[in-house]
Amino acid sequence: MKRVLSFVLVFLLLSSLVLMITGCEVPSGKTSTSGKSSGTLIGVAMPTKSLQRWNQDGDNMKKLLEQAGYSVDLQYAADSVETQVSQLENMITKGAKVLVIASIDGESLTGVLAEAAKENIKVIAYDRLIRGTEHVDYYATFDNYKVGVIQAEYIIKTLELDKGAKGPFTMEVFGGSPDDNNAYFFYAGAMDTLQPYIDSGVLVIKSGQTEMEQIAIMGWKSEGAQARMDNLLTAYYSDENIDIVLSPNDSLAQGIVASLKAAGYGSADKPYPILTGQDCDITNVKQLIAGEQSMSVFKDTRTLAGKVVEMVDAIMNGTEPDINDTKTYDNGVKIVPSYLCEPVFADVNNYKELLIDSGYYTEDQLK
Ligand code: BGC
Repeated sequence: MKRVLSFVLVFLLLSSLVLMITGCEVPSGKTSTSGKSSGTLIGVAMPTKSLQRWNQDGDNMKKLLEQAGYSVDLQYAADSVETQVSQLENMITKGAKVLVIASIDGESLTGVLAEAAKENIKVIAYDRLIRGTEHVDYYATFDNYKVGVIQAEYIIKTLELDKGAKGPFTMEVFGGSPDDNNAYFFYAGAMDTLQPYIDSGVLVIKSGQTEMEQIAIMGWKSEGAQARMDNLLTAYYSDENIDIVLSPNDSLAQGIVASLKAAGYGSADKPYPILTGQDCDITNVKQLIAGEQSMSVFKDTRTLAGKVVEMVDAIMNGTEPDINDTKTYDNGVKIVPSYLCEPVFADVNNYKELLIDSGYYTEDQLK
C-alpha cells in the first residue's frame, strides 16, 4: 500500500512539474498581447495644448503611466487631424503596445487604426468616442449626457421653473464642435431636460436657433462663440436683456462672457445672464468668482487618467478592464465597452472644496 501511495505522489509531482513548464510557454511564432515588461511603450495622443484641460489630461496620464513602469510617447496635435494621424503612425512604428487617443475629429482615424490593429495594438478612446471603426477596444470618459442634465437642472433650480415660475425667460443655446461626439451628448442631456419649459413658453429662444447645425461652434473655439453671441445680441436683444445662455463648456463660455461684456452686461440694469459651462478651467473659475459665469461642471482629469492607466494595466496583464457601460456608446460599427466617470456640479459656493481642498488647483492659481 505504502509503495502504491509513494508512486502516486511521485507521479503527481512529475506531472505538475511538466504542466508548470509547458503552461507558461508562448507557442513559438506567436507574440503575446499580454505581458507587461518594464519600459513597454504607450502612445498618448491629445488634441491640443490650447485648451487647459488637455494639458492636464496629458500630464496626469504621463505621470501615472510612468509611475506604473511604462514609457510614454505623449503628443499634442494642435487641433490638426493630419498631425494627429501622423503622430499615431509614428507611435505604431516605434512599437507602442497601447494607443490612448483623445481624437480631434472622431471620424477620421479609420485608416491609421486599421494599421494599429495589424500590429495587434490595443486602442483606448480617451474622453471622446472614436467613430466608424471596429478597431477601438475601450472608451473611458465622463457621463457626457449627465453633463448636459446638470447644466439644465441648474437653470431650472435657479429660476424655480420646477416650482412653477412662469417667466417668460429669454434663452439662447450653444452647441459644441460638430466633429466631437460628446457635443451631441451634452446637447441631448440639456435639451431633453429643458424641452418641457421651451414647449410651454416659459423659456423663449428668440433666435429660434435650436438645432445642432445652427448652434454648433467648430473646434470649440472661444472666438467662434464670441462672434455668434455678438450676432445674437445685435439681432434679437437690442431692446431686451437675455436671461440665460446655455453653453456646453468653458471655452465657449469665455467667448460668450467677452461678448456680453462688450455689450455692456455686468451692470445693475444689465445683469449677467445665467451662463453654464464645463471643465472648471482656471479662467472660468475666475469668471465664477467674479459673477460673470454661473456654474461649471467639474470633470476631475486625475480620475479619468487613473482609470485609463488601470485599463492599460489590465490589457497588458491580459485581464479584462473595468467597464460600467456596454450600451450607450455606439460608434456606428460597434458598441464600445466604456467606463464612465461622474461629472460634478461646480459653482462659486463649492469651488474651494472641489478644486482647492482636493489639490486640483492652488489658491494662487485662481487669483
Ligand atoms: C470635452 C470637454 C471639452 C471639449 C473641448 C470635449 O470633448 O469632453 O471637456 O470642453 O471637448 O475641448
